[in-house]
Amino acid sequence: MMAIEQQSVMQRMFARKTIAQVQRESANSELKRSLGKWNLLLLGVGCIIGAGIFVRTGSAAALHAGPAVLLSFVVAGIVCAFAGLCYAELSSTLPVSGSAYTYSYTTLGEFVAWIMGALLLLEYGLAASVVAVGWGGYVVSLLADFGLVIPPQFTGPTGHAVMRDGVPLLVDGAAVTAIFNLPAFLICMALALLLMVGVSESAKVNNVIVAIKVSVLVAFILVGGYLVLTNLPELVAKNWTPFIPENTGEGAFGIDGIMRAASIVFFAYIGFEAVSTAGQEAKDPKRDMPFGIIGSLIVCTVIYMLVAAIMTLLVPYATLNVPDPVAVVVDSFGPQWAWLAKTIKVGAIIGLTSVVLVLMYAQTRIFYTMARDGLLPKIFSKVHPKFHTPYINTLLVGTITAVAAGFFDINVLGDMTSVGTLAAFAIVCLSVMYLRRAAPDLPRGFSVPFYPLTPILGILSCLYLIRTVPYNVLMFFVYFLIGAIVLYFVYGMRNSNLQHDQLADDAPDMGEFPGPVVD
Ligand code: ALA
Repeated sequence: MMAIEQQSVMQRMFARKTIAQVQRESANSELKRSLGKWNLLLLGVGCIIGAGIFVRTGSAAALHAGPAVLLSFVVAGIVCAFAGLCYAELSSTLPVSGSAYTYSYTTLGEFVAWIMGALLLLEYGLAASVVAVGWGGYVVSLLADFGLVIPPQFTGPTGHAVMRDGVPLLVDGAAVTAIFNLPAFLICMALALLLMVGVSESAKVNNVIVAIKVSVLVAFILVGGYLVLTNLPELVAKNWTPFIPENTGEGAFGIDGIMRAASIVFFAYIGFEAVSTAGQEAKDPKRDMPFGIIGSLIVCTVIYMLVAAIMTLLVPYATLNVPDPVAVVVDSFGPQWAWLAKTIKVGAIIGLTSVVLVLMYAQTRIFYTMARDGLLPKIFSKVHPKFHTPYINTLLVGTITAVAAGFFDINVLGDMTSVGTLAAFAIVCLSVMYLRRAAPDLPRGFSVPFYPLTPILGILSCLYLIRTVPYNVLMFFVYFLIGAIVLYFVYGMRNSNLQHDQLADDAPDMGEFPGPVVD
């Protein structure tokens, strides 16, 4: 306590973990350098593809960009590339397997690390809710194909009109209002229980799931691409003219709409930074990390643009504001392709399940690390004696994500996730600039090209996209940050181990999980 009183608040806020400390903490994870550049690329693709392409592309095109959603994918991909290069430099310079939270703690200090922890709650925790809502959309649609109907009141966010095929569902002439989204709520709780008992996807299962979700998108591209190419002039005239619909104000269409849609489809790229968390397992981090990060971004950008082009060519973009837009487009292929629509729904459901699982897992490990650092109550790092998992923490994460998924609208949740992640990326770019000044001689496996232009453009482009989200979401985000800052001064700063100089080195073994390992 004495030590604390003698330090100024500023000193405490900017207290940093040394690289040696972080290394010591992760020393017990005797990871093998077994991942080659293609493994890393696949890891990235596995974490990236999810509700962004399967769900959110639909509303981005229908409400904001029209066919020009293709350009939104390019814009969002470039923003991610700036941040991705910065992640690659940090992961090859700070020899720890860690997330943006650990990077911030070693560079910009404890206060920024705390803020980063709060932002990662949006990036991982809330993203899990978004993907769970997307999962629910595909499940409801698939069950309906087999004649099983979940009461519509239990398939949407509280107080919102239940939508079917992009229009409000009417019963006896009145719009049906949702009570809550039961499937989305249940999948979060079910996966939290699995994580509590320590289900560990084996690397093989993970690879199979990645293969399934990529295969259904490739099948969509092949069949849809064939139909497009055989009718191209007609389709372009019908659905791509104009390619950029006229701006109708408030982020709808025109250049504004493309940028607004970029902040929505940005969600589709979240996860590429998982590659950077595998820094200690890369065979040759200097060469392989940038390959994995930038390579997975390029592969996904190409897949996303092809899928989006086919979607907007085959059906009028205005009809895409549905929970299962990819399946809706396949329905337009004709009755002979009905089996493909079902197959794609099954593939999407399997793929989205694994994304929810990986995101929730990442969130629990961030809370776990923060608790070990004393920034959150110790209960978050309590490990179950039998299952070796942080079970209380996992139950809490499951409950938070389930409640968010059950009661809130996917668009609001998605925007909050994008804003939080964009802010986190901006801090990562800033951390690179800080480290270049503070420790210019630190050996860097990989250096950001065109320094300092790249991180500066990264920061500016992230801030620009944040500005495009609706005002109410921005205000929600500001309140969230204010709440986080207050909590830091009330709890985090007072209980931090770093302030008491007593870092915990005794992390219990929690077994393996081949998702992003987050420290
Ligand atoms: N990028 C991930 C998705 O689209 C989070 O689901």
